[in-house]
Amino acid sequence: MTILLTGGTGKTSSRIAHLLNKQDVPVILASRSGTAPTGFTGCRFDWLDETTYGNPFEIEANITALYMVAPVAFDLLAAMKPFTEYAINKGVKRFVLLTSSTTPKGGHAHGKVHEYLAERGVDYGVLRPTWFMGKYTAQKPILSREGSPSAKFFCTLNSCASAIRHIPFFSYQLFIDPLT
Ligand SMILES: NC(=O)c1ccc[n+]([C@@H]2O[C@H](COP(=O)([O-])OP(=O)(O)OC[C@H]3O[C@@H](n4cnc5c(N)ncnc54)[C@H](OP(=O)(O)O)[C@@H]3O)[C@@H](O)[C@H]2O)c1
Repeated sequence: MTILLTGGTGKTSSRIAHLLNKQDVPVILASRSGTAPTGFTGCRFDWLDETTYGNPFEIEANITALYMVAPVAFDLLAAMKPFTEYAINKGVKRFVLLTSSTTPKGGHAHGKVHEYLAERGVDYGVLRPTWFMGKYTAQKPILSREGSPSAKFFCTLNSCASAIRHIPFFSYQLFIDPLT
């Protein structure tokens, strides 16, 4: 079991990678730069460049799940569908899309990708954090209800990691209280 985390150098994937690593789940961190912290495997990957699609599978043929962090693009479905189809053909079974609390299935941008996954008939999940997530920085700890009962966060990246790994067929909305 290897999980491919797109947005590999970004805020959520970099933290999810550490959480999965603690559970001995192998991950590949994919981004255009292809960089990864010491001890992790990075991979050059660009949603908008199909010549990079095979790169993760050259590192590990048996990728079982894909965490989908959208690129910046006018039409996200057009940007994300080609690699998703490629991954399905390569045998990836689980697809977990990072979207937002304000974007319903079928809505603009991420909502179209959500709808596509739902209609594609794959094992998929959707994570819908609130925009308070923007308060996270590299310096601030990510706290979870499980990790710290006094935390202001209702539910955070521990749940993302669990969702990517375990939970089939879900649409899950994360509610994250603002820091006070
Ligand atoms: N910030 C918030 O408050 C908030 C709230 C709710 C939802 N969201 C959603 O969260 C997502 C962002 O996730 P994040 O915060 O974990 O990431 P992030 O910190 O914004 O980093 C973006 C990641 O995507 C990679 N990337 C950018 N363009 C790419 C491309 N064309 N192909 C492949 N990789 C690319 C970047 O690396 P390279 O530049 O090296 O490619 C980087 O690793 C967005 O979809 C946003 O809508 C954010």
